[in-house]
Order: sequence, then C-alpha cells, then structure tokens
Amino acid sequence: MSNDSMLALNTFDPAGVARIDAVTRDLVRRRSSVFGAAVPLFYEQPANFVRAEGVWLYDHEDRPYLDAYNNVPSVGHCHPHVVNAIAQQAARLNTHTRYLSDVVYSYSERLLSTLPDALSKVFFTSSGTESVDLAMRVARYRIGCTRDAGFIVTRFAYHGNSTAVAEITPAFGPGVPIGAHVRTVPAPDGYRNEGDVGEYFATAVEAAIADLTRHGIPFAGMIVDTVFSSDGLFVEPAGFLRRAVEVVRRAGGVYIADEVQPGFGRTGAGMWGFERHGVVPDMVVMGKPMGNGMPIAALVVTDELMDQFVARSEYFNTFGGNTVCCAAASAVLDVIEKEGLIAHAADSGNYLKSGLESLKRKHDSIGDVRGAGLYLAVEFIDPDSDDKAPDAREALRVVNALRARRILISVCGAAGHILKIRPPLVFSRANSDHLLDAMREILADS
Ligand SMILES: Cc1ncc(COP(=O)(O)O)c(C=O)c1O
Repeated sequence: MSNDSMLALNTFDPAGVARIDAVTRDLVRRRSSVFGAAVPLFYEQPANFVRAEGVWLYDHEDRPYLDAYNNVPSVGHCHPHVVNAIAQQAARLNTHTRYLSDVVYSYSERLLSTLPDALSKVFFTSSGTESVDLAMRVARYRIGCTRDAGFIVTRFAYHGNSTAVAEITPAFGPGVPIGAHVRTVPAPDGYRNEGDVGEYFATAVEAAIADLTRHGIPFAGMIVDTVFSSDGLFVEPAGFLRRAVEVVRRAGGVYIADEVQPGFGRTGAGMWGFERHGVVPDMVVMGKPMGNGMPIAALVVTDELMDQFVARSEYFNTFGGNTVCCAAASAVLDVIEKEGLIAHAADSGNYLKSGLESLKRKHDSIGDVRGAGLYLAVEFIDPDSDDKAPDAREALRVVNALRARRILISVCGAAGHILKIRPPLVFSRANSDHLLDAMREILADS
C-alpha cells in the first residue's frame, strides 16, 4: 500500500504491538495471519468492539467509546426499530429481485419520493462501489461507448474499489494509477483558494474537458462526492457546484452525484448533499447509511438514462435489493422521519461546530473549521508557515489522544491533516460537550 493512499491514514503500526494489551495483541496477530496487510487497521492502539448501542461502542472489557466517526450506523448502532425489521423480515422471506415483492417496491417508491421527480428509476446493489461502477456504465452507454469514455473527478476523490472505479479513485495514491481516460480537478477548497470557488471549480472542469477532447477521449461525465469528503470536506458556499454542472452539460456529459457520504440527512439541509447546490443530478449514487449497516446501496437515474441502458443491457445483482436489506432500509427511513434526524443533524452539528470554532480561536494550529450538519472537519496547519502548511502529525496526535480517552474520530484530506468528525446522526449536544472537553484538554497539552 502506498503511504499516499487514503487508506494509509490513521493506521496501526505493527512496530507498536508490544504496547497493546494481551487480548488485543492476539487479535492483531490473528487478523494479520488471515487478512495479510491489505486492510489497514485504525489507530496506534487498535480497538476491539463486541457490542454497540446508539452512539456508544463497547470493547471486550465493556468499556464505552463515544462514536464520533461512523456514518454507516447513522440512525444509531443497533437501533431497535431497524434490528426488529431485519429480524422479522429474515424470519419471513429473504430473496432476490426477480420475484415480485411489495416490500421492495414500497421501499423503492418511498426512496424515490425523497428525490426530484426526474430521478425516477432505481437499481439496487450491495455497495457504493457497485453503484458507481454501474453509473459509469450507464454514462458510457449513453454516449455509445463501451469503455474508456472520459470522466472527471476531484484530485483526492474516493469512489470505490472495483477495477473500473479504482481508475477514477485518485485517493488510492500512486500505486493505483488513475485511468488514461480520467482527468482530475482540484477540490473546491475555499480555505486555500481566494476568490469565487464556483468559478474556479467550473474553470478547472472546463479545462479538463478540453484536455479529454484534445486526446480524442469522448466525455461521459463528472462524478463528485457532493461534500468532497476524502478531499477534505468542502461544502461552502452552498450552490458552488452549479456552474461546473452547466459546463459538464454543455459539453454533453452527465453529472453523477455520489451521495454515499452525505446522503440520508447528514448535512442537516435535506436528505441529499446535492440539494445544497440547487442543481438536480442526472444520476445519484447512494450506500453506506442506507441500511444502517446492512449491505444495501443504489443508483438512481432518469427514465431516459434507464431506457438507454436497457437498449444495450439488462441488470441483475444477486444480493442487491434483497427483501431483508429493503426492510432494513425502510426502517431507516422510518427512524429518520420519526426522530426528526435531519433537523437534529442541523441543530446538533451547529452546536458542535460552534464549539470547534471557539477552540480554533484559542489555537493557531487550527487553520479552519468547516462542514454542514453532522459532517465536520478541523484542519491543522503549521501556524509558523506562510502557506497554511498541513500538519498531519498534530491531527494524528489529536486522533490518537481522543482514542486514548475512548472517543473515535479519524482524518481525511490528501495530507491526512484534517479531523473528520462524522458521528451517527443521533449524536447529542451532551455528546458534543464530551468530545469538545476532551479536545480542549488535548490541545492545551500541545
Ligand atoms: C464517496 C464514496 N463513494 C463511494 C464509496 C464506495 O462505497 P463502498 O465502500 O460501499 O463500496 C465510498 C466509500 O467509502 C465513498 O466514501
């Protein structure tokens, strides 16, 4: 694995094995023996969890850890309503999508009703990767191309791990080269770039399209995570994506919104991250929080794109959209609605953000605090540098010091110098106080 890979951030160093307790050490040894080194392990002191509830995870000694990181169990770990829905459906029927099923269509209708009318057809998959892969195929078919159509992504984007998707995932680092048909554009980073973010992002997209054309590569589209998570979380000003999408459409491409991170209410400003930008995508990819941990993901497209796909191909995915996964996903929508989690994400996120901003006022090492709803980033810089030099060492120190206090977060950004705070949506103001108190102590200790 390249040290410049996103997966190399915040990882366990086997040289530190002597510093961990006997139970954990034995698990680390067994993990390494069956996994090898392909799947990095989090933290200087790896964590071994055996149960969870709400925003709390419990280790083998039943010690609680505050989860300020995991967005998959977004309505809370082991939410009883979701657990019941899974258990009841698993006891009744679990099958694939080539039989008729009220459970699956009720969920599909409900899901589609959360999206703009034009987005009216759904493909179910089992992962974000499969959904992105399929979106690429739909975009290629649309322009009559079966391979190597041009795509634009941001410079440290992560979109998944299949062969085709790894080619549009620069976050894997130099060990996994991006495809010759792929162009990257700088992330819309309003902290490091003066001026109009929307303008410079659109200009970069325009230049990337021109370069594809110059190389004789037909342009299929642009795919972006609508909160630019792995690039370092860029959300302001709302609306900045509009101009780039206009450029993409003028050049004959499609805009694919990757909602794997912001989808299902995380930004506190509606169900989908793209809504903040006021422009309707041609395709939407979703996954992670969709089933609160059950492997359900989807690609939603327009009627026209579905027709163009169907003219060439059919689709079947053995596990995608199975009955149990759809029951879980439907229960997730119930909880989001009943517990008012979108409004809660806005309120709780604003509270936490203002606490982080007050830490920033006291510590020059914090260059920026940003984010929307319950997706927040704290960027560490060297205060003595003239150019906001990233300070990954300080970010990692904070992450591991929080881990030592049994609070879970991680880092993002190409340099790994940005704290990524992305808790289950049920995270409360009291949970924020707990996190902020710990950060106050850790920063005072630098
Ligand atoms: C923005 C984004 N897109 C796609 C994916 C791929 O999803 P999966 O891991 O379910 O294949 C991820 C995973 O982290 C992601 O963050």
